[in-house]
Amino acid sequence: MKIGVLTSGGDCPALNAVLRGLGKYVYENIPKAEIIGIADGYGGLIDGEYRKMSRSDFSGILNVGGTILGTSRQPFKKMTLKTDDDPVTKAEKMKENYKAMKLDCLVTLGGAGTHKSAALLSSLGLNVIGLPKTIDNDIYGTDVTFGFHTAVEIATECIDRVHTTAASHGRTMLVEIMGNKVGWLTLYAGIAGGADIILLPELPFDTERVLKKIRERAEEGKAFSIIAVAEGAMTEEEAKMKKKDRMAARAEKGYTTVTGELAGLIGQQVGVDTRVVVPGHMQRGGAPSPYDRLLSTQIGSYAGSLIKQGIFGVSVAVRGEQMTYNRLEDIAGKQKAVPADHPLIKAARDIGISFGVKR
Ligand code: F6P
Repeated sequence: MKIGVLTSGGDCPALNAVLRGLGKYVYENIPKAEIIGIADGYGGLIDGEYRKMSRSDFSGILNVGGTILGTSRQPFKKMTLKTDDDPVTKAEKMKENYKAMKLDCLVTLGGAGTHKSAALLSSLGLNVIGLPKTIDNDIYGTDVTFGFHTAVEIATECIDRVHTTAASHGRTMLVEIMGNKVGWLTLYAGIAGGADIILLPELPFDTERVLKKIRERAEEGKAFSIIAVAEGAMTEEEAKMKKKDRMAARAEKGYTTVTGELAGLIGQQVGVDTRVVVPGHMQRGGAPSPYDRLLSTQIGSYAGSLIKQGIFGVSVAVRGEQMTYNRLEDIAGKQKAVPADHPLIKAARDIGISFGVKR
């Protein structure tokens, strides 16, 4: 049995921990198995760049950040694109290379985009298993994705550290947390870090309500405020615009996200000193947390057990403490966004945290 494996899309902590779980399971439990590591995500499958991985490749990587295989972003919309220069699509090239490599199956570790491409390859007849990676926690049909909780810890620590300096100076500090489309990371880290205001892409905010909250805090004698802003957060007005127009309007003002403009408005209208902190890719780097190491060991070994049983065309999912799977075709193209009635939002509101929206 020849098993191809690749890591695709933005990296995150615990990719190596999942590879280790998979590799160790396979070499312990599937006789005569061979693992082929494909370089740089789908890019390596398109270009035919790969190497055989032995048992020892999967040792000593449990706590190592990044991915030993390398990764790349390969937009789904380009997978089936034909051009005059290249009439063979990327999807067709991947199928050809899968055959040329004589693979029996392919395991793809990746986020929502990776899963869409995995579903496409599965529809072309390849035996594919997707594994749910992303600090965004937005893969449909799973309680949690690996990498998410480590990123929550990093972002929380960042807010904690900003908290003390904000308090010392009596400033309003805006911490911009990763999450372009969904706000899971901002919600979790915002609450865990004791933010006063949390702004999520799913809940377009009213700027006046944000300003009001900061003024109210000042009236209560609290000179500083902490705002956790998701990268993809937007105002109510912006939410009415098409993404293209929203980005163009921001670019004209010199911003790519809402955070800088909001900081400026708070400074002008409330009269407080503001600072923006962007932890950025730090949230994706470094060692996975113990929780993510445990989860990854389960996900990797469970994926190995699916291979052993011959179950393909699926994505591994977590339900409570159990591992299960969804059909790729059922989850591809869907997104798990933060619901407005999520229990954490309720708890946060009940203790006075503002989301910048009407309750
Ligand atoms: O998908 C994870 C993510 O971290 C998003 O939250 C973020 O917007 C994006 O990746 C940025 O990735 P990159 O800089 O690698 O394009």
